[in-house]
Amino acid sequence: MNMQASQVRASGATHTADATTAEEGIAIQQEQAKFDSTAATEAAMQNTLLTPRFYTTDFDELDAIDVTPVRADWDALIAEMEADPNKGHFKKNEDWDHVDWDGMDPALRKEFIDFLISSCTAEFSGCVLYKEMKRRGANRDITRLFQLMARDEARHAGFINDALREAGVAVNLGFLTQKKKYTYFRPKFIYYATYLSEKIGYARYITIFRHLEAHPEHRFHPIFKWFHEWCNDEFRHGEAFALLMKTDPKLTSGRNVWWIKFFLTAVYATMHVRDHQRPAFHAALGVDPDWYGHEVFTKTSELTKQIFPITLDIENPRWAAGLRRLQKANADLAAAKAETGLGARLRSLGAQARAASAFVGLYTIPARKHAVPASTRLEPAY
Ligand SMILES: [Fe+2]
Ligand SMILES: [Fe+2]
Repeated sequence: MNMQASQVRASGATHTADATTAEEGIAIQQEQAKFDSTAATEAAMQNTLLTPRFYTTDFDELDAIDVTPVRADWDALIAEMEADPNKGHFKKNEDWDHVDWDGMDPALRKEFIDFLISSCTAEFSGCVLYKEMKRRGANRDITRLFQLMARDEARHAGFINDALREAGVAVNLGFLTQKKKYTYFRPKFIYYATYLSEKIGYARYITIFRHLEAHPEHRFHPIFKWFHEWCNDEFRHGEAFALLMKTDPKLTSGRNVWWIKFFLTAVYATMHVRDHQRPAFHAALGVDPDWYGHEVFTKTSELTKQIFPITLDIENPRWAAGLRRLQKANADLAAAKAETGLGARLRSLGAQARAASAFVGLYTIPARKHAVPASTRLEPAY
C-alpha cells in the first residue's frame, strides 16, 4: 500500500482519469478502498454463467504474435491510443448532475446499482487481463498495446466506482484482483471473447448514448453523458483484437468458425438474459430491452464482418423465440434456486435442461456467411 501510494505521488495523478498506466489507476483506487463496501465487492466476486469473470491465458503464446502482416494499421491504431484523446475525461466535472439516490425508486436503484457493479467488474476484468499481459510479455508491440488498453479500462472501472461511491457502495478493486477466481481461456478464445465484448460494449454504449441524445428526459443519471468517448475507447480495443486475429488466418477459418459462432451466440444470449433481469432500469431509460438487444446485435454483427466470416441470423424467427425460451428458463431457474426441497430441486433441473436446449436451438440456426474485407480497420460510425 505504501509503495503504491508513493507511486501515485511520483506521477502526480490523484484521479484514475489522469492516470497514464493501469498500475497508477489501481493504486489510486486502493487509496480510496477503505471507504468501499463489502456488499458491492461481494457482488463483484460472484462467478456465475451470467456475471463478469476474470480471465487468465497462455501469455507466452500471446507474446509470440508477430504483427508484421498488419503493421501499417497496427502503427496507426497504437499512435491513436498513445495520443490519449480521453486523458482526464473520466471524472466528474460541471456536467455531472446531482443524483438523488435516496429519492430514486427502490427497484430502479437496486437494478441500476447492479448494472454499475457488473459494468465495473467487466471493465476491471479487462484491466487485470491486459495488465498481466503487459507485465509478462517481452514483445514490444504486444506489451505496448496491452498497457494502453489496461490504462483505459482502469479509468473506466474507476469512474464507475466514483458513481457507485455516491450511492454509498463501491467495489474494492484491489481485493478483487487478489481474491476473485480467474478462469483460464486459451489465447484464441480470449481473442474471440474479448474482441466481441469490446465491440458489443461499443454497440451498447453508443446505442444508449444516441437514444438519450434524442430523449434527454430519460437520462436519470449523469454517467450516460460520458458514454460517447467511452465507447470510442472500446471501439479501439476491439480494433486491436481484430488486427491480432488478422495476423493468423487460421483463427477465423475452418473449424474455428464453429467456435466463433459459439462465442457470438453465448455473448448475445448472455446479454439478452442479463438485460431482461433489469426491467425497471430499462423502463427508466425509456428503452424496450427487446428493441435494445436487437439494435445492439445488429450493430455488433455489422462490425464483426470486419474479421468474422459469419454473422448470426438474428432475423430468423427461431432467434427471437429461442431467446424468449432461454430467458424464461433462466427466470424459472432463479425462482427454483430461491426455494428449498425436492420440488424446487426438480424444477431447477428442468429449467437447466430447458436453458441448455434453448441454447442449442440458437446455436443451430444456420449462420449468414460473407466475404471478409482485405483490410480490417473501421471507424466508429454509429
Ligand atoms: Fe472499458
Ligand atoms: Fe475495452
